Amino acid sequence: MSFTRRSFIKATAAGVFLPALTGRAFAAEGGAPLPIPEMMDLRGGTAGELIAQLGSSNILQGKATQTAGYSQAYLGPVIRVNRGETVRLDLGNTIAEPVSVHWHGLHIEGNQDGGPHSPVNPNETVKAALDIDQPAATLWYHSHIMERTGAHVWYGLAGMMLVEDPDAVANGLPETYGEDDLPIVVQDRVFANDGNFLYTPRGPSIMMGYKGDQILVNGAIKPEASVPAGMVRLRILNGSNARLYHFNFEDGRSFSQVATDGGLLPAPVLMNTLTLAPAERAEIIVDFSDGAAVRLLSGADNNSPMGGMMGGGMGGGGGMMGGASPASDASGSFEVMRFSVNTGLEAKVKTLPATLNGAPVPDFGEPVRRRSFRLDMMNGGMMGMLSGGGGMGINGETMKMDVINEDVPLGETEIWEITAAEMLHPFHVHGTSFQVLSNGGVPVNPAGIGLKDVVLVDKKAEILVRFDRTADKATPYMYHCHILEHEDAGMMGQFTVA
Ligand code: C2O
Ligand code: CU
Ligand code: CU
Repeated sequence: MSFTRRSFIKATAAGVFLPALTGRAFAAEGGAPLPIPEMMDLRGGTAGELIAQLGSSNILQGKATQTAGYSQAYLGPVIRVNRGETVRLDLGNTIAEPVSVHWHGLHIEGNQDGGPHSPVNPNETVKAALDIDQPAATLWYHSHIMERTGAHVWYGLAGMMLVEDPDAVANGLPETYGEDDLPIVVQDRVFANDGNFLYTPRGPSIMMGYKGDQILVNGAIKPEASVPAGMVRLRILNGSNARLYHFNFEDGRSFSQVATDGGLLPAPVLMNTLTLAPAERAEIIVDFSDGAAVRLLSGADNNSPMGGMMGGGMGGGGGMMGGASPASDASGSFEVMRFSVNTGLEAKVKTLPATLNGAPVPDFGEPVRRRSFRLDMMNGGMMGMLSGGGGMGINGETMKMDVINEDVPLGETEIWEITAAEMLHPFHVHGTSFQVLSNGGVPVNPAGIGLKDVVLVDKKAEILVRFDRTADKATPYMYHCHILEHEDAGMMGQFTVA
């Protein structure tokens, strides 16, 4: 199999749209040790290299899966960078189609943003120079080619990036990578009978977003992490194309969120359920000092343009119209991964700081202008689903590579109002972090959700946004829905900043 559109289509027969079996509560597969991605530490001027490549991965027992990754078989290394430094990377590509490396969440110029206008062509090397100047945060990178982002990310062209800030080091949070500070990249996937991934978006799975019935963390199905009996930091990335997660622990234990997309929160926020939409990140601190093993679960993802209409018979947690769903209990809750406590590991952090050094201090000032973005499923609803997904767009325009939709003045604060009628859409903006003012008609407490670059729009959201880097017509920034099938169907727009 090669990494081509044809090979994705060939696999169609194997049953993406078959109803998921229910009642297999938490099927027994999984349990391999949590893979910890290699750390590529680019602090202090070390240059890096990322080569997009195909690979073969052992995700299922006894069957190989053809995957893609950056410098490895599946996904990419966790890249660590320092605020105040310029990071240099060679970006290569040994795959037979253009890919890119978009730095999701990095505040960099449009010409370094790695979007659809900045492909790395087969056998080409592109030199990247990233000027890092933003607070400590958990970001990610992924391929971002017009109409191909969904397939590229599904096959594995994604990785995590950690921005360090001298102001945030030694702030009392766990920070020993791979021990008490763990990257957790959560993705759902569908496998064909031969062990390969199945990615065949069409009709309903474009409208709903393409969802899988197997839950992978760092590329392993429902793995197990062995953690010290103390505070452990989980840097969770929802790296799925479309699935929303409602993370919670099997024993109901609470945990503290300490960071969102744009960086640390001013103080930990206690919770026992965390919702993450595609592309959102959260850092949480979990206390394992009781020594008990526990599973991380997620509530069902009921996000669907059919609303209540399909809810009973076919929709719900994901019957035929909702694509594949993981084995779940009666409520739709399913297992994500497991934790066991190893008392042989040193518990370096036993208490949580009351406040967090290094949290961004928002300084947006007064907004001078308002812009509106209406996320359109256009031929959405039943007719669009039956006719193959229809065109999607924003303000009635479907994404076109040669159309600049907005010109935004540099350094001016604006309110962007995003509306979405049929379902929840994770709206993402390149080049900056923003503050959510309201969502679903309810004002948002900024201390609780911090800075963001994705907002899960519930009917109507208002964000406060400002760009301090430029993007020209040749390499504009994007705003788009991060349900990747929606993005690839045209729910994306381009803007310059000057
Ligand atoms: Cu995560 Cu436009 O990207
Ligand atoms: Cu992005
Ligand atoms: Cu969407």
